[in-house]
Amino acid sequence: MAQAPVRTGEPKGFRSAELGWPELDRIPHPPRRVPLLGDVVGVNRNTPVQESMRYARRLGPVFRRKAFGKEFVFVWGARQAADLADESRFAKHVGLGVANLRPVAGDGLFTAHNHEPNWQLAHDVLAPGFSREAMAGYHPMMLSVAQRLTEHWDRAAAAGRAVDVPGDMTKLTLETIARTGFGHDFGSFERSRPHPFVTAMVGTLTYAQRLNTVPFPLAPLLLRSASRRNEADIAHLNHTVDALVRARRATGGGDGDLLDRMLETAHPDTGERLSPQNVRRQVITFLVAGHETTSGALSFALYYLARHPEIAARARAEVDRVWADAADPAYEQVARLRYVRRVLDESLRLWPTAPAFSRQARQDTVLAGEHPMRRGAWALVLTPMLHRDPDAWGPDAERFDPDRFDAQAVRSRPAHSFKPFGTGARACIGRQFALHEATLVLGLLLRRYELRADPAYRLRVTERLTLMPEGLRLRPERRASVRQPDSDLRRPVPGAGD
Ligand code: HEM
Repeated sequence: MAQAPVRTGEPKGFRSAELGWPELDRIPHPPRRVPLLGDVVGVNRNTPVQESMRYARRLGPVFRRKAFGKEFVFVWGARQAADLADESRFAKHVGLGVANLRPVAGDGLFTAHNHEPNWQLAHDVLAPGFSREAMAGYHPMMLSVAQRLTEHWDRAAAAGRAVDVPGDMTKLTLETIARTGFGHDFGSFERSRPHPFVTAMVGTLTYAQRLNTVPFPLAPLLLRSASRRNEADIAHLNHTVDALVRARRATGGGDGDLLDRMLETAHPDTGERLSPQNVRRQVITFLVAGHETTSGALSFALYYLARHPEIAARARAEVDRVWADAADPAYEQVARLRYVRRVLDESLRLWPTAPAFSRQARQDTVLAGEHPMRRGAWALVLTPMLHRDPDAWGPDAERFDPDRFDAQAVRSRPAHSFKPFGTGARACIGRQFALHEATLVLGLLLRRYELRADPAYRLRVTERLTLMPEGLRLRPERRASVRQPDSDLRRPVPGAGD
């Protein structure tokens, strides 16, 4: 059972580090700090996470950055991050990028402050939507969406064409969460361009990231046209979601999916229900949080599989063995793909697609016995660097090696050194959903195709709060000895809507 987060009396507004860290001077910052502006010399504003990774390597496990008067502390040392995971002393902080999403997601599950009553209400109402039983119910729908992907890739394979990996993974994961959570079909695979919902979502995520790179009071002026576009994007997201909710209210019956829970389920103890405004925020939250990060995770995993044919061969052999001649893998057969899951974990280690989360002190405390923090002071955990800390991952932490996740290796590592899904009461509610979906899809793709990389491709990571391998294209080739018949994945799926 999740531990209830702090509910009352949090300090409000952006808390610059000078207010919360009495010995801030002991924490290193980048050289060439400019008065008023801060650490802005030579910084690429489009890639704040990778810039922070660069500083992390130079400045050590706890460091700070300042931009336009706002100063914040980054933590990535495994020892210090483990201390921040102590739920009795720290809780989620809604800061920086996450706070910038409040205009669109408000007190939805992801962006809610700990003290807002709608967090606990929505958590309790929606958590059963991620139970094992619920997941087993989603499995046939996930298969059905994956079939659309393989039909698309089959056509590309037949024509000898390369596929746009992040684009296709985004179609897949959007359709999956829309179908399983909301009984909705965006028709992404029938479109040559991204669905307008995706364009609006990418717009709001990118805008939320950009807001951190301009002086706060000047943001409305400097980002005037971007801000207008952002308002239009938010209006589009709201409009899409309102139509979806209206359609459900008119027709009823989503077989207990997430939307049914949001609309119909009362809190088991208090009898309270989510308000219409909160339902809107939750639907947007789940549509966005439920696909963007999983799409990135799948894309990075496919990148690594294509770059490491020996790892792909081992994963493929596992799929052939575990799924054997089953036309459609059963729900239980997905979790049995242990090596494929390690490939996914290792991809999420190097490129955790939600690359940071923030933690705030519940009371005055000392971080890892070293840095005093006042109540309400907060720090960003820089996950891609936590996942590269040599103290936890060894001197070759940059190397892609799925065996880091075999049971013995996991046991021998310090606790809390792998955090792609955040930590504590506010950790990702969709973790099992994402892992099941991604493992299933990787299994299906490995079983059906050889993945040919473009040898000239060099990994470039694009940032819009989340991470994605930019411009990644692969050439799928149907395997000569594919074991499943062509008609696999084609059984009609009850309630899948196509
Ligand atoms: C690989 C895929 C995913 C990754 C890497 C990921 C990562 C994360 C992280 C790091 C957090 C914590 C953020 C924080 O502390 O500020 C989070 C929270 C959350 N995630 Fe995910 N997520 C993924 C997939 C999903 C999916 C599939 C769903 C929904 C179906 C989802 C829904 C949420 C929600 C609603 C929260 C807020 C939970 C709360 O505060 O109670 N995520 N996720």
